[in-house]
Amino acid sequence: MYSRIAGTGSYLPEKIVTNFDLEKRMDTTDEWIRTRTGIERRHIAAEGQTTVDLAEAAARRAIEAAGVTPAEVDFIVFGTTTPDLVFPNCGTLLQARLGARGCPAFSVETACSGFIYALSIADKFVKSGEAKCALVVGAETLSRITNWKDRNTAVLFGDGAGAVILKPSAEPGLMSTHLHSDGAYKDLLYVDSGVSKGFKVDAATGKVDVGIKMAGSEVFKVAVTKLGSAVDEALAANGLERSAVNWLVPHQANIRIIGAMAKRLELPMERVIVTVQDHGNTSTASVPLALDVGVRDGRVKRGDLLLLEAFGGGFTWGSALVRF
Ligand code: UT7
Repeated sequence: MYSRIAGTGSYLPEKIVTNFDLEKRMDTTDEWIRTRTGIERRHIAAEGQTTVDLAEAAARRAIEAAGVTPAEVDFIVFGTTTPDLVFPNCGTLLQARLGARGCPAFSVETACSGFIYALSIADKFVKSGEAKCALVVGAETLSRITNWKDRNTAVLFGDGAGAVILKPSAEPGLMSTHLHSDGAYKDLLYVDSGVSKGFKVDAATGKVDVGIKMAGSEVFKVAVTKLGSAVDEALAANGLERSAVNWLVPHQANIRIIGAMAKRLELPMERVIVTVQDHGNTSTASVPLALDVGVRDGRVKRGDLLLLEAFGGGFTWGSALVRF
């Protein structure tokens, strides 16, 4: 028994903030952002619009694409670092919206690699026969933890959601997933506040300071190395050559990291799903967002071999090899 992606969906909030908009708000330029990151615009959730709101729209699209009903969903795993509430978790909040009552629903919090982690967990439940229609979500409202006064990070992030439905299949499907984490890298990318540690208040604005702290170029170097190993690991585990991969569906943080992965796989950029220009780094939403774009515009076809990868704060990282 394997699991197979039966449908994909995504959602981006309406409000778009371009690099030119940011030029007016901080000491940056469209040219710097585009050449260093590949980002041209990002979507920002409206006031009051939450992570679960974005997730619900993406989930309903994935459910429709899979040809199932919300009530058929019997397992929900939700990757996010920007939950609506302390509890209930976002998976359970989404479950109530969908009316899929009684099934297990929970969140995983592994920053940008959250979707790969969530996919790996759901795959095990489907393979074991415990779940027949698993909803896997990655959704974020990163704009809520962005320090809009810090040009080093504010230009990078955006809000969005992506989702897939996994169903049982006699053929793969998900061929393998590979998860990694190394907390020794914590100081390179983190948010220095939380419910238990406490929140700092910005003396000038009186607002809670939950800004993302990142040593960008250090993160960049480790990301390229670890992601490189993770894609090699996925191919080796399945005895496949690089040439077998039809599409690389990477975490959308920086076009230069994406380019480095394509080079490692000896894939031309035409075989890489790139969406970073349209939404920036949406953390755990980025891989399912890119996958949904590739599926809906007809590039990703049934039977194609996909290599998914993501890297984020922790550090956490991982890859998945998928026969679509
Ligand atoms: O998704 C989780 C994982 N995250 C990532 O994978 C992100 C990895 N890192 C990156 O994508 C890149 O390191 C960044 C895009 C964050 C930065 O690019 P970089 O080429 O590594 O630049 P840098 O940090 O070395 O900074 C170069 C210069 C600095 O100026 P000096 O010191 O050389 O004079 C920065 O102050 O660029 C300056 N800079 C900016 N200039 C204009 C930093 N941010 C900006 C900005 N606009 N927004």
